[in-house]
Amino acid sequence: MKGIILAGGSATRLRPLTWVTSKQLLPVYNKPMIYYPIETLVKAGITEILVIVSPEFAGHYLNLLGTGKDFGAHFSFVVQPNPGGLAEAFLYGKDFVDDDDVTLILGDNIFDHDFSSQIKNFKGGAKIYAKEVHDPERYGVVEFDEKMNALSIEEKPKKPKSNYAVVGLYTYDNRVVKFVENQKRSERGELEITDLNNIYLKKGELSVDVIEGIWEDAGTFDSLLRAANLMAEKAKKKGK
Ligand code: G1P
Repeated sequence: MKGIILAGGSATRLRPLTWVTSKQLLPVYNKPMIYYPIETLVKAGITEILVIVSPEFAGHYLNLLGTGKDFGAHFSFVVQPNPGGLAEAFLYGKDFVDDDDVTLILGDNIFDHDFSSQIKNFKGGAKIYAKEVHDPERYGVVEFDEKMNALSIEEKPKKPKSNYAVVGLYTYDNRVVKFVENQKRSERGELEITDLNNIYLKKGELSVDVIEGIWEDAGTFDSLLRAANLMAEKAKKKGK
């Protein structure tokens, strides 16, 4: 299993913070944001990691992260000149993925869930994760039947069919690259991760696990502050 961290984009919602650096390098309590997704992957046993970055700040990532040795991992980097949707990660990552399965994590997603058993037991198809939230319209939303089988996934629906948000960590088998290569762009010109998940869902090869614990998509001022406070609390508890 290989890992991809998507850390491109221009993060306009966090300006002026992101005029001179990348969102995923901003501090979340005592670490740059990207340390959290790196640690999530490494904890899950994924150490071969591709980091996708925007051209303006590529050098900052190289300086900060280096080879990956300090994290017990091995990093590769690729530059994404124009962000074109989350599923585009698999086009930029095609050579890196090669013949393996792959887990994508968004560089602004902070978890304390341990994904290691799910990653170890991955047997093909797609495995995504959901968490109950009070503002599902901000996210991809999964509708479940009474046995918690996924029925539908909609991206930022005005009328969400459930309170379960799709979180930013996705595991796919090796066919993912081929599927994305044949995927159509959405009206906003992007290769949508929700469309990709729906390809697997239609084939009956998508499973969704509900996770508990901390999950923040630190892409707004409020969620960035919340993530920092949560991580501070967690670090202090650990220190005691
Ligand atoms: C993206 C995905 C969405 C997912 C979310 C998780 O949204 O499109 O399906 O629920 O990440 O963080 P974005 O944060 O890019 O608006």
